[in-house]
Amino acid sequence: MKILTFCFFAIISSIAAQGPTLVLLDNQVIKETHSIFFKSLQERGYSLTFKIADDSSLVLSRYGEYLYKNLIIFAPTVEEFGGSLNVESITEFIDEGGNVLVAGSSITGDVLRELASECGFEVDEENAFVIDHLNFDVSDEGQHTKIVVPSANLIDAPVIVGPRKGVAPLLYQGTGILADPENPLVLPLLTADSTAYSYNPNQPIKEYPHAVGKDTILIAGLQARNNARVVFSGSLSFFSDEFFTAFIQRSLGGLKAPVSGNQDVAIAISQWVFKEHGQLRVRSVKHHKEGEKAAPKDYTIMEHVVYTIEIDILTNGQWKPFTADDVQLEFVRIDPFVRTTLKRNPSGQYEARFRIPDVYGVYQFKVDYDRVGYTRLHNTTQVSVRPLEHTQYERFITSAYPYYTGAFSMMLGVFLFSFVFLHLKEDEKKSKNE
Ligand SMILES: *[C@@H]1O[C@H](CO)[C@@H](O)[C@H](O)[C@H]1NC(C)=O
Repeated sequence: MKILTFCFFAIISSIAAQGPTLVLLDNQVIKETHSIFFKSLQERGYSLTFKIADDSSLVLSRYGEYLYKNLIIFAPTVEEFGGSLNVESITEFIDEGGNVLVAGSSITGDVLRELASECGFEVDEENAFVIDHLNFDVSDEGQHTKIVVPSANLIDAPVIVGPRKGVAPLLYQGTGILADPENPLVLPLLTADSTAYSYNPNQPIKEYPHAVGKDTILIAGLQARNNARVVFSGSLSFFSDEFFTAFIQRSLGGLKAPVSGNQDVAIAISQWVFKEHGQLRVRSVKHHKEGEKAAPKDYTIMEHVVYTIEIDILTNGQWKPFTADDVQLEFVRIDPFVRTTLKRNPSGQYEARFRIPDVYGVYQFKVDYDRVGYTRLHNTTQVSVRPLEHTQYERFITSAYPYYTGAFSMMLGVFLFSFVFLHLKEDEKKSKNE
């Protein structure tokens, strides 16, 4: 009985582990054509709720509480969501920390375009495909829209897309995405080759295409300031069973693999966007004078301090110590006075030892760790640094010796002078009397 209860709770907790996820589809068929992707999510503990995108009963939140942690929109053609769902409520969901995975296609509907532009992406015009006349697959039907993308075009961030090396080429068919290059939060997860462009394949090219070459983003990611994550793919087929299991071969020779790399990359991206990967947190922050244990009320200038911070990373649902060699600490009073790399000590804490500068004021210990794909860590601890008290100065300092000599030589001089002065007067008196 006990074992049964235990199993029951183990199953429940593994199901609840990754949180409820709403999946919006254009039609029920997508559930079948993308079954491998959905199955991998379910196996990792996501509870998926499938809905048609214009279902009138759609709700994201009830009584101010979100019903879902994640949202998947595999409904490229939807023109308007059903129920209470719209671009505003989805942006609000992102603002509250929700994660969103969206897949468009060459006929991306207005509502998804609007959502994309809220996130800093721009989806190319309707009916536009990414076309590459040099890198198309053998199964392409003549328009050169089924393109072969080498895994080297993935962003150099294993935490988001997995390792690039050893991944088979990727198969892609869909529209191109543009990103605002000024927006530092947008990440090009997968870009097209330099020979690609995005245009309607059925029309002669009259205008300069919106996206050309490597600027054509195929899959774009965003990590918002609140660490919510959004991924926008220009291709829904990228996640399909057909593409996951496809034999891939560049028509003009070269890139070739028995199975495309789509599945590995799609799963890695889903792990990132739903925060299975790259989640950091600060477990604890401590600081004290060297040789002491507790944090003092305030520091005095030129004291030696020890600062320690513990950083955790979420791995397989558990917080484990995070290992990196590029975490830095700044000791800031408007400008950083000290900037130093934190060293990991054997117990897994990051530690820095330094001497407070000879300037008093209100300072902050600041750790600002911002790396592609990882949660942004920003932790500050304010401390005050006071000047020396009058009793803390040295009593006799070398540089003051001329003044000491001056004072004592003056005293000696007065003494000698008065001695001589008195003696001489006596002599005068003596000589007068005589
Ligand atoms: C820094 O981290 C500590 C420990 O987790 C936390 O108590 C503190 O509130 C954090 N400070 C800021 C400014 O986030």
